[in-house]
Amino acid sequence: MCGIVGYIGNKKASPILINGLLKLEYRGYDSAGISTIEKTGLSTMKDKGRVKNLYNLPEIDNLEGTIGIAHTRWATHGKPSMENAHPHMDNSKTFSVVHNGIIENFNELRKLLSDSGYTFYSQTDTEIIPNLIDYYYKKENNNDLKFLRAVKNACNSLKGSFALEIICKDYPDNMIVVRKDSPLVIGKGNGENYISSDIPAMLSYTKDFYLLNDLEYVVLSRDNAKFYNNDLKTIEKETKSIDWDANSSEKGDFEDYMLKEIYEQPKAIRETIGSRINKNSKCEFEELNFTKEYLQGLNKIYFVACGTAMHVGLAGKDMIEKLCKIPTEVDIASEFRYRDPLIDNKTLCIFISQSGETADTLAALKLSKQCGAKTLAITNVIGSSITREADYSIYTHAGPEIAVASTKAYTSQVVLVAMLTIYFAETLELSTQKIATLKEEILLLPKKIEKALKTSSEIKTFAKRIYQEKDIFFLGRGIDETVAKEASLKLKEISYIHSDSYPAGELKHGPIALIENDVTVISIMTDPKLVKKTISNIQEVISRGAKTLIITNQDVDTDMFDMVICIPETSTFISPILSIIPLQLLAYFTSKEKGLDVDKPRNLAKSVTVE
Ligand code: G6P
Repeated sequence: MCGIVGYIGNKKASPILINGLLKLEYRGYDSAGISTIEKTGLSTMKDKGRVKNLYNLPEIDNLEGTIGIAHTRWATHGKPSMENAHPHMDNSKTFSVVHNGIIENFNELRKLLSDSGYTFYSQTDTEIIPNLIDYYYKKENNNDLKFLRAVKNACNSLKGSFALEIICKDYPDNMIVVRKDSPLVIGKGNGENYISSDIPAMLSYTKDFYLLNDLEYVVLSRDNAKFYNNDLKTIEKETKSIDWDANSSEKGDFEDYMLKEIYEQPKAIRETIGSRINKNSKCEFEELNFTKEYLQGLNKIYFVACGTAMHVGLAGKDMIEKLCKIPTEVDIASEFRYRDPLIDNKTLCIFISQSGETADTLAALKLSKQCGAKTLAITNVIGSSITREADYSIYTHAGPEIAVASTKAYTSQVVLVAMLTIYFAETLELSTQKIATLKEEILLLPKKIEKALKTSSEIKTFAKRIYQEKDIFFLGRGIDETVAKEASLKLKEISYIHSDSYPAGELKHGPIALIENDVTVISIMTDPKLVKKTISNIQEVISRGAKTLIITNQDVDTDMFDMVICIPETSTFISPILSIIPLQLLAYFTSKEKGLDVDKPRNLAKSVTVE
């Protein structure tokens, strides 16, 4: 939530900052703003709405400064408006600050500062930060590291989460950045430094990044980055080279990022599988060292995640319980962290997060560690906060995912969890025919996804039939019900059609009351053992006038339904990877029919870094 970028070097900062903001816009698009240091001092420009509004301000071209900070906002405190847009300045206009996160004690700090004569012009929590820095700056007698000391004192008074970029009119050749529980990376260039909420936004400038831990301060100059800990002792940091291709964060020939990412799934799956699966040897995870004794001693495995990533956990539960016979629970991170979960040193907690930055998932991970559990992170972003906290990390290789609605990250996570399950099963010496078959099926996935993508034109036709509807229902049993949940989330988040998912067998316990003439019911049927049962439930809705779309890899009577989409057959464990594809396309085409912004649905942000 909220994207921040910064630049210090010898080039004009504003085009680099605007370009970075455009790449980070999926993190929020309520307002955008920029501050640079000009010959005349600090210059700030902002506007409500999308980054393009800022970009179109005629005065933006007048900015010549080679050091600057910028922000695209997802509103938390205070409505989307000019006065609430970042950057925020202190009363004496000495400091300009952009912030991603939430300051929980902002009310008391605001009161304290008001009592000292400060005035506030916005409803944001952020505006206290430049004023608090100014407050400490004015108190500072020691000129050595004066700017840094003021920032550090202010940060130590803040409760909550923050990633901050601060510039000061008295230090035209420096910028200070710091983070706590909110993401921030520093890209090292040649005689220049880039700052960003995430790596893809800066890939076209550099592939070498410094990763920051909580409460580490960086004083940036054009050709240097000096790191300090919270005692203001200098610390050494190495850069990490990121091997993502700069083009992977561009749209290319596709109309939208989401469509591009849907079509990238064969590649994402192929790269996530990598060399981990071989027919004649065990599944390899060199990052992991679990023993048979450790796995046998587990009382429980927990999958904890948010949104789409949580739906992967549901598929994971099915796989681990069926193949490894280890009791497995799935929880939403924001619930888990306040639930007093029953975990101890015999519990393995697995955290799934595309970004590796989701605030609730990170907090749930920290809690699990405190309770003595071992923690394993599954993310798509090397060096992200969650990976730095977890005992073990394994990665999907989906490449940057830009569209707010997750597609290739979901399928890559499911395949990674399937391989993790195989690794557990082989470590437990449960080598069965099921595992051998699953391995073969995993290797066939990229080709089968390509086939599933060929359903696109049929799906587009169905989207034209349903795009004006108010409610749509998704039904499934077993693993297909986990896909129903994901498909329903996908549709509602980008088409704004209300949709819900139910286990097909639950229909008669309430939801069937909502079925009337011409309501659309979509059902997924890939588990041969359950297909007949689900068909009976679908017949019940057809009798009540529903129109039906069936996604299946089984032989069904196509005349019975309005449309049947056939996908390739595979092991039930990994069938979500194929059955979700037409449903991702359905969400996409429905949103397009409605003329909506597919990549940036209203009110949503891709990376939810506040609770
Ligand atoms: C947001 C995104 C979803 C994502 C969820 C969890 O809601 O829109 O696509 O599934 O956050 O994000 P994570 O990065 O932790 O997977």
